[in-house]
Amino acid sequence: MAQENLSVVLHAKGDLRLDNRPVPEPGPDEVLLQMHSVGICGSDVHYWQNGRIGDFVLRKPMVLGHEAAGRVVKVGSEVTHLKAGDRVAIEPGVPRKMDEFFKMGRYNLSPDIFFCATPPDDGNLCRYYAHSANFCYKLPDNVTFEEGALIEPLSVGIHACSRAGVTLGSTVLICGAGTIGLVSLLAAKAMGASQVIISDLCAERLEMAKELGADFQLTVTREDGAQQLAKKVEDTLGAQPHVTIECTGVESCIQTAIYATRSSRQRRCQRSGHQRSLSLLQHLANGHLHVGVG
Ligand SMILES: NC(=O)c1ccc[n+]([C@@H]2O[C@H](COP(=O)([O-])OP(=O)(O)OC[C@H]3O[C@@H](n4cnc5c(N)ncnc54)[C@H](O)[C@@H]3O)[C@@H](O)[C@H]2O)c1
Ligand SMILES: [Zn+2]
Repeated sequence: MAQENLSVVLHAKGDLRLDNRPVPEPGPDEVLLQMHSVGICGSDVHYWQNGRIGDFVLRKPMVLGHEAAGRVVKVGSEVTHLKAGDRVAIEPGVPRKMDEFFKMGRYNLSPDIFFCATPPDDGNLCRYYAHSANFCYKLPDNVTFEEGALIEPLSVGIHACSRAGVTLGSTVLICGAGTIGLVSLLAAKAMGASQVIISDLCAERLEMAKELGADFQLTVTREDGAQQLAKKVEDTLGAQPHVTIECTGVESCIQTAIYATRSSRQRRCQRSGHQRSLSLLQHLANGHLHVGVG
């Protein structure tokens, strides 16, 4: 095994380095992974450019990366379900305690969860990385490492649609056709949504959304008013959408989502920590509270 472990380490805001770190030794319930594919998330870029996301502040060097797949090269003494050679996708969030959230099956809400590349926890944009074996999922032979790395962002879309109750015949507005908007689109269609309308400022992103199955694309400008956009959505669908999934983190889109969605239905905001003005809504979204009226 190569002894070097080149790692993409963020030392401070704007100070990204390629450091050689020791190859970690897996603990009893961990596996050592040779990393193969690691996505660059908007949050990695945000930490690099700003040194923080909301209350998560970089105070010591941290390895970036949390959308990842790799190959098991060594297993801890208590690991029985994985062996060297297995290809796995990584769930980057590992609960540290068996707290009330863990017991409810919602360990992702655990306040002291370990999460790759969220300060102070190291991520896996490196050559060798040790992770809890229970949070490594074996990939079938027909799923590539690259696809394995995309499972984490895909799960964001699946989670949003399932929390919002997207089901057969749902009509859905998705604000934003970036990565998260597109995975939400894929999930909504797979869960049976009959019509999905997706908005973005960028026509190229909407083209991609069309290729991935969006029924309607809405090109917007920053000058468009929230109520005006909500009306366009209603006119296009013939009725207000049952569900809106907000995937821009932009305040005006959250307003659009609130105006556009049919009464007593669901609006989902993808959590984001970018703008202080959104802190209350982010607090709600971080807590996965439903934003709804009536
Ligand atoms: N819950 C999670 O685990 C999770 C994970 C990743 C990202 N996020 C959040 O999801 C959001 C989207 O992330 P992303 O990685 O897809 O970002 P992205 O930057 O790739 O996509 C955002 C899209 O919104 C579009 N947009 C910007 N302003 C707009 C407007 N006024 N109207 C319509 N579209 C507009 C942009 O053109 C872009 O295509 C962010 O708020 C991010 O913090 C949440
Ligand atoms: Zn991510």
